Amino acid sequence: SASDDPPIQAAPGSGLRLLSNDGEPVWILYGTHTGNSERLAKLSAKRIEDLGIAAKVSDMGSFKVKELRNIKRLLIIVSTHGIGEPPIQASELYEYLHGSKAPELKQLEYSVLALGDTAYTKFCQTGKDFDGILARLGAQRICERVDCDVDFEDDYTRWMEGNLAAIASSFQSGNVPAVPIQPAISGKASPVYDRKHPFGATVSKKINLNGRHSSKETIHLELDLSNSGLRYEPGDSLGVYASNANRLIEPVLNTLHFTGEELVDTYLGKKTLLEALTTDYELTPLTSISLNRYAELTGSTRLGKILNDNTAVVEYLYGRDLFDLIREVPFKMAPEVFISLLRKNSPRMYSIASSQDAVDDEVHILASVVRYEAYGRYKEGHCTSFLAGRISEDDQLQVFVDANSRFKLPLDPDMPVIMVGAGTGVAPYRAFIQQRGIQDAPGKSWLFFGERNFTTDFYYQTEWLQYLKEGTLTRADVAFSRDQAKKVYVQHRMLEQGRELFKWLEEGAHFYVCGDAQKMAKDVDHALKEIIQTQGGMTREKAEEYVKCLQVTDRYQADIY
Ligand code: 2AM
Repeated sequence: SASDDPPIQAAPGSGLRLLSNDGEPVWILYGTHTGNSERLAKLSAKRIEDLGIAAKVSDMGSFKVKELRNIKRLLIIVSTHGIGEPPIQASELYEYLHGSKAPELKQLEYSVLALGDTAYTKFCQTGKDFDGILARLGAQRICERVDCDVDFEDDYTRWMEGNLAAIASSFQSGNVPAVPIQPAISGKASPVYDRKHPFGATVSKKINLNGRHSSKETIHLELDLSNSGLRYEPGDSLGVYASNANRLIEPVLNTLHFTGEELVDTYLGKKTLLEALTTDYELTPLTSISLNRYAELTGSTRLGKILNDNTAVVEYLYGRDLFDLIREVPFKMAPEVFISLLRKNSPRMYSIASSQDAVDDEVHILASVVRYEAYGRYKEGHCTSFLAGRISEDDQLQVFVDANSRFKLPLDPDMPVIMVGAGTGVAPYRAFIQQRGIQDAPGKSWLFFGERNFTTDFYYQTEWLQYLKEGTLTRADVAFSRDQAKKVYVQHRMLEQGRELFKWLEEGAHFYVCGDAQKMAKDVDHALKEIIQTQGGMTREKAEEYVKCLQVTDRYQADIY
């Protein structure tokens, strides 16, 4: 037991407890959206094996939940959907642990790394849930959970350091070896340019794909990657850094009685407050972390009340930005205190809309501009407003490639693909079809595309028609929701074509969904299950199993946001 171990030196501040030296492997389970958790899990296994200790890595989706009772120590690395839900592959384990058949896990020692995005209110919710439920089932923490924002490398390293120290010490008697810690992970796509060292890519083309009287503005951007060495595959995303507009910074400076000339220390060095607010931090959206800090700082009873009620927090954050907060609860503070409230400038990810084999040194993305009015002010999306309003052809954008191993064409070019996308969700399919065109892939392909109006919002229409003519694209079904009184969405088109769609699935088709996570992806998922149930003559349970099987064999992939 733990108390029999010799005393060890724990990593400072890690809150370590000792593990028993019983030769049991360390398990690492990951639940991933884009492959980040998977990559970290595999890296972690390697770090553990470097200590001469066995490690087992598994995707939560292929892990037998009953195994859990036999495991002694476990690291969980799991990401959260923007909307606070577990990755598809993690849902079975998640449900099992939260359900009535959950086992007692007193034998288990564990630690959770939660990946997420502070721009969403349910930040790292899935990781928090796993951490909480394992504790409730009697398991003991090896190390405290770490919640990571989109820049997860440093937090990962800190978390893993704590785990390695604990694990190493339990397997060695007496002295704790110096634990080798990996430097920040460099992106697999490029040895030089990555999230921390983005490449300055010149904009070679910028077009608004929407027609003149469209209710939308959707920007197609072509960027030059010459001499960057950056490589990407269809399905990957491009990370883009934006800066803040003066129209956003000025009212903040004025309200807080700053000139902008004050010198401040940021995580990127010493600079003027104006510079810091332009490039190093975000002023929108308002995050729950900023709200918490501000409430603490001001001691505001109104904010305190809101923070005691989760629904009230979600409601408060919705549509507000930082300026709304400081205007509603005024507080005098030093410039350095002010920037300590802010989220550091984080990249936004765009699904790449081109195949590098087809466009060489270029990369194309599609961004739909976010604009709305709330609390008496005009609001814009942090990055989309930058791309739409402050970037022109010949300007440079700071970018990097964010690989997504979870949204990939089938390895076998004979395999059919069914691609469902609404709005900018069509972007990766342009990359898919460009790629299949270059490869002369014999496999069939079927696009379902949805937008508001046919005349103004049919992105890449002429290209799709050309691909259909050439046979690179086998079928296209479109749903223009606002061209008639009754809404028509992609899932309605799927249901209309249910027989054929099921036939494709039976032939081994891979099914993709890209776009809105909140509603569209769920409705598409329901439609898919309904089609399988009706066309396959199955019960609801059998249809669910069928879909589960598609998921674990990577034939059902989602890139949703
Ligand atoms: P709407 O805005 O007319 O409701 C891209 O945004 C397209 O996705 C639009 O046509 C939009 O329709 C549509 N859309 C909205 N909600 C959807 C849902 N639940 N399922 C599928 N498509 C949806």
